[in-house]
Amino acid sequence: MNHIRPHKVFNLLGEEDRMARINLPFQHSVTSMLERAILASLLKVIAPRTIFEFGTYLGETTLMFAENSSAQIFTLDLGAACDSELLDGYEQKNLGQSLCQKKLFDDASHRERIVELFGDSTQFDFAPYREAMDFILIDGGHHMQVVRSDTENAFCMITKDRPACIVWHDYRNPNYQITEYLDELSDAIPLFHVEETKYVFSFHNGATLSGLRS
Ligand SMILES: C[S@@+](CC[C@H](N)C(=O)[O-])C[C@H]1O[C@@H](n2cnc3c(N)ncnc32)[C@H](O)[C@@H]1O
Repeated sequence: MNHIRPHKVFNLLGEEDRMARINLPFQHSVTSMLERAILASLLKVIAPRTIFEFGTYLGETTLMFAENSSAQIFTLDLGAACDSELLDGYEQKNLGQSLCQKKLFDDASHRERIVELFGDSTQFDFAPYREAMDFILIDGGHHMQVVRSDTENAFCMITKDRPACIVWHDYRNPNYQITEYLDELSDAIPLFHVEETKYVFSFHNGATLSGLRS
């Protein structure tokens, strides 16, 4: 695993890309301000046409994706019919929270660019999205079986012909085994953990790596 300082990601941006729209966290938020800035920066580096998010939750990150790109955004969550046995207590509480609240993007001017998908990601049919996504966030279920399956599906969905990025959340979250899994994956592909955040990302198809390692 490559551990990099946050400024390495910010330095990938040109002067003209340094303005971002970031929603300020509230009591139910699951990402920090630094994490939001990192994600917005990676988004601007890739300038995606299409985005796929595993785990909509309240739609905060979905909204930020819409505010900082012109991409079509697909976001998948369990939905009301969920009977996933792979949720722990914390995740069940989160799911309850997200089901009883409006999504943050519901009234957004970009609403028409956001496609909500419902289903268990380990059962979902990803075939329509094959090699069609420029930017993917894996932030759904945290059970190892789910993260592994989401990662495999992300690799099938990622574009093959233009710069692209996959991001994982919850690296070094002591409640989950995601850290061991990503450390293992980093033996096969270059992965970058952004220090002071729980984000790990990989760049694909020529998205620049040189500035990150120097
Ligand atoms: C940490 S939250 C997502 C946070 C969101 N990406 C954000 O940045 O605000 C995880 C979400 O994943 C959903 N989830 C858990 N297991 C899932 C599964 N197997 N398939 C689809 N969604 C799942 C939960 O319902 C929850 O809303």
